[in-house]
Amino acid sequence: MRVIQVGIGGMGETWLRAVADSESVDFAGFVEINDGIARAQAEAYKLDRSLIFQSLPEALARVEADAVINVTPPDVHREICVAALEAGLPVLTEKPLAGTLEDARAIAEAAEATGALCSVAQNYRYRSLTQTVKSALERPDLGAVGAVRVEFYRGPHFGGFREEMAHPLIIDMSIHHFDMMRLLLGSDATSISARSWNPPWSWFKGDASAAAQIGFANGVQVSYSASWCSQAWETSWNANWRFECERGALLVEDDRVFMQQLLSAGDGKRGRANKHGEKRELPLIPMARESQDYLLQEFCEAVRRGAPTATTAQDNLKTMEFVMGVAQACDSGETVRL
Ligand SMILES: NC(=O)c1ccc[n+]([C@@H]2O[C@H](COP(=O)([O-])OP(=O)(O)OC[C@H]3O[C@@H](n4cnc5c(N)ncnc54)[C@H](O)[C@@H]3O)[C@@H](O)[C@H]2O)c1
Repeated sequence: MRVIQVGIGGMGETWLRAVADSESVDFAGFVEINDGIARAQAEAYKLDRSLIFQSLPEALARVEADAVINVTPPDVHREICVAALEAGLPVLTEKPLAGTLEDARAIAEAAEATGALCSVAQNYRYRSLTQTVKSALERPDLGAVGAVRVEFYRGPHFGGFREEMAHPLIIDMSIHHFDMMRLLLGSDATSISARSWNPPWSWFKGDASAAAQIGFANGVQVSYSASWCSQAWETSWNANWRFECERGALLVEDDRVFMQQLLSAGDGKRGRANKHGEKRELPLIPMARESQDYLLQEFCEAVRRGAPTATTAQDNLKTMEFVMGVAQACDSGETVRL
């Protein structure tokens, strides 16, 4: 498969490496609007400078390609994805699907209308850690999940669009955790109450801290607490999680997974306490490919077979509605129902 990569700075580097490492994908060309970045990346990654174009329409006119990989800032996603889909090319686009729900819907509609695949890079799904938690929750040992607590605290200094946008934490970061919730709970968010704020020392224009209470269609309640301007004691990017289950609990802490089962319930009348099994650490399930490497291979095979991926734009609208629902709940102070 020959691809055009749009946006080769920032996260674009991860995709340059993923394609270089893939046996199934080659570059047909690149699009980059920033000349300095084009020059620097051509040198760093030994790219043919004559194949780096200023716009996607120009690239489409000049090179033969089978697909487009989009790694531009969210506000540009609609323009790039719709142009590629309307040219009949499948697209693998970075999250968030778009900067607004309206743009995300327009992309999903273009995918539906053209019949071309638009797949969203929700890479946190395809990590050993996430797959280990998913597999542990699917086994009968712990029983049903009743409630989940998620905590995420980091203080990254990115510069660029994140420091200017409204709700940088929720739209650009928490989207990963919200999408993981959809995967791990096998359900969609239906009610959201939330607050966001910006601590006095925040270097983001938009709110970089938030707390949300989210109800899912299957009855599970999630308490989410996060900050992107935390000054110490950082959690992993994957966040820390506690799943309260019918017959035990599952914990994710610093990218390690632990569980403890209830062996027998106490009997209130005779004053006997609950009996628990050992707290044990679960080995992480190894994956041959993770994150962007996995997504690229999945996309390539889906295009070859004419099949969808797990994270099509149409499905990802549920993640986008969830994300924008949290932002709306923060802005309005009211419970949002989806
Ligand atoms: N999945 C992840 O873990 C992850 C991590 C980081 C970023 N991202 C996502 O990747 C996307 C890009 O983020 P980033 O951090 O690389 O941003 P960035 O601003 O660092 O880089 C974007 C690149 O796109 C280029 N660009 C902008 N508009 C363009 C256009 N119209 N045509 C061609 N090139 C254009 C810029 O010049 C720049 O080189 C965002 O959607 C972001 O949320 C995902």
